[in-house]
Amino acid sequence: MSKKKVWVSRPLFPDVLAHLADHVEVAAETVEGTRSADQMRAKLADVDGAIVGLSERVDAGVLAGNTRLKVVANLGVGFNNFDLPAMTAAGVLATNTPDVLNESVADYAWALMLAAARRVSAAERWLRAGHWTSTMRFDDWLGVDLHGKTLGILGMGRIGQAIARRACGFDMHVLYHNRSRLPDPVERECRAQWVEKHELLRRVDHLVLVLPFTAANRHAIGAPELALMKPSAVLVNVARGGIVDDAALARALRDKTLAAAALDVFEGEPAVHPDLLALDNAVLSPHIASASEDTRRAMARLAADNVLAALGLGKLAGQPPTPLNPEVMSRWSGAASVDNKA
Ligand code: GLV
Repeated sequence: MSKKKVWVSRPLFPDVLAHLADHVEVAAETVEGTRSADQMRAKLADVDGAIVGLSERVDAGVLAGNTRLKVVANLGVGFNNFDLPAMTAAGVLATNTPDVLNESVADYAWALMLAAARRVSAAERWLRAGHWTSTMRFDDWLGVDLHGKTLGILGMGRIGQAIARRACGFDMHVLYHNRSRLPDPVERECRAQWVEKHELLRRVDHLVLVLPFTAANRHAIGAPELALMKPSAVLVNVARGGIVDDAALARALRDKTLAAAALDVFEGEPAVHPDLLALDNAVLSPHIASASEDTRRAMARLAADNVLAALGLGKLAGQPPTPLNPEVMSRWSGAASVDNKA
């Protein structure tokens, strides 16, 4: 039987590609690039599985007429680039990379919070530009403390909980809002208290956004929400672009109705709203919250494990570890199922 074929849409760790190549024929891209729907359709047309990045959309149009593809693994926990119902209708298993990145993203949320509150990026820019030529005023570069303040978390899934647990070391009071309250033992472990969204916005000194991007969450933080926040507050977004109205945020930062913000994600990235680029009280990074050596490797390995398992190969054959629509697997025909998409 000829080897199954897997397309990898972006350069990946060589050892992970080698692991894939032990089982399948690998067609791996060697340069990063953004692909149109037509290009995606062509790339997916003659493969059994694929590993894609967050900027690659998989929807009904891309899958139309494809009878071979069985699995697409996303290199990320968020999967708003997938049209899940369309993938399910096409009998294509979708997988993501939950859990392996929780702690690294939580670390990075804290890095951003500290950087924005204590003006680290702006101070470094100033220093590198050669402005530190004499003794500074004692009241220059004043920032906002974290210790003893109130931290708010909007979206209290596993990453939000990891962020909350770290607040203990800063002696912070933690409030959160989520559609559903966490069970009591989890709230106790996180030392976090559930409040309504508007109360959260009004009370917090630092707000971290960790909610998934859905149509309902688009501009969950826009002008009306920003107006509720304290002028001394700091906003951190490690979730998704589009959850914040970037234009409204830029206005609030410019008018000093919000002290500072730190953003790892943007509406329409890789483009960044030009007004944000012009602001010294905005810390900006290129969607790298999960980008530690260990975590990106773990994500790549998990994506590879998902693809191989869905194709009935490797030590997890038939049992992809993190499927998003496992119901499609019951529609593949039986043990042969992993060989033959019905
Ligand atoms: C990163 O944004 C992810 O969803 O993993």
